[in-house]
Amino acid sequence: MKIGITGGAGFIGGHVADELEARGHEPVIFDHLGRSTSGHKVMLGDVRDDVAMAELAAHTDGIIHLAACLGTQETIRNPRPAAKTNVEGGLNFLEAITQYDIPGVYIGVGNHWMNNSYSISKTTIERFTDMFNRERGTRCNVVRLVNAYGPRQSVAPPFGPAKVRKITPAFVCRALTGQPIEIYGDGQQVSDMVHVTDGAKALVTALEKAAAGTVLDRVVEVGPAEHRTVNEVAQQVIQAAATLGFPAVPLIHLPMRPGEIPGATVTADTSTLPLVDMSADTLVPLETGIPDVVAWYTQHWLPSYQAGAA
Ligand SMILES: NC(=O)c1ccc[n+]([C@@H]2O[C@H](COP(=O)([O-])OP(=O)(O)OC[C@H]3O[C@@H](n4cnc5c(N)ncnc54)[C@H](O)[C@@H]3O)[C@@H](O)[C@H]2O)c1
Repeated sequence: MKIGITGGAGFIGGHVADELEARGHEPVIFDHLGRSTSGHKVMLGDVRDDVAMAELAAHTDGIIHLAACLGTQETIRNPRPAAKTNVEGGLNFLEAITQYDIPGVYIGVGNHWMNNSYSISKTTIERFTDMFNRERGTRCNVVRLVNAYGPRQSVAPPFGPAKVRKITPAFVCRALTGQPIEIYGDGQQVSDMVHVTDGAKALVTALEKAAAGTVLDRVVEVGPAEHRTVNEVAQQVIQAAATLGFPAVPLIHLPMRPGEIPGATVTADTSTLPLVDMSADTLVPLETGIPDVVAWYTQHWLPSYQAGAA
């Protein structure tokens, strides 16, 4: 099938494109960025443009909707961009797949219950998806990911240009440059992690199920069965860097940022994984995923960072 991926130029989108290709599908990346991190060609388009979304639906056999304005604390002071991209863009996606009667998949967030602009706007479209499926005959499945990590995730300042600071690149870049790892709060909060390739598999299977006429009556949640605190994830990064010869760095604790909740737990209900033919024991374990991703940043990010810093 020819499958549109909105936000396909991003981190998860690149891995979804790889997974689609591996299964014999043809990915069509739709993004308002003119380039992609995965080397796929990009069709320039904006999800806030209902006509562009209808065009994408008219020329594809299904759409995986990933485009979003991200950031938990970044979107609190100015909720409008998240509302416009995530809510209006999400509605454009649902209208387009309904109009052209093609299957769709919507990606939700692990912290869907939190009241910040990002979670509220992302979860609003989960609720609209349920309404469209029930009332309009739409075929759209919802897959929520906990914190995704893996190769090619973009890096925020001072290490790179990304607007949103994501936990893994932030920890890895500091560990590889000999700087203390900054943790907001006491680090005892649980923010579970899923390897991006597992997320991509779940998203593509959910699309294939919708294409075969199966509209799942539950949201699929992708994340591990065993929970880890942020401190434990940081220690795994430090250990993985140490095995590559980087000296161990300390952890420093900073005040929590707006929107972060002390003691918060972001986990997945792994009983939903069989809905996409997966189970928690087949997911990439953090014990191998973190060393792999540290090695990836050592090879693909560190040399250019050091060249720029020199
Ligand atoms: N990264 C995570 O840990 C995580 C976890 C759960 C869910 N998600 C969801 O997965 C999706 C992708 O996240 P990601 O980590 O790959 O982010 P990303 O920032 O790497 O990718 C998002 C992509 O969307 C594109 N985009 C943004 N606004 C657009 C618009 N108006 N029109 C067209 N394209 C637009 C961006 O250019 C970018 O390429 C998002 O919906 C996010 O909410 C991410």
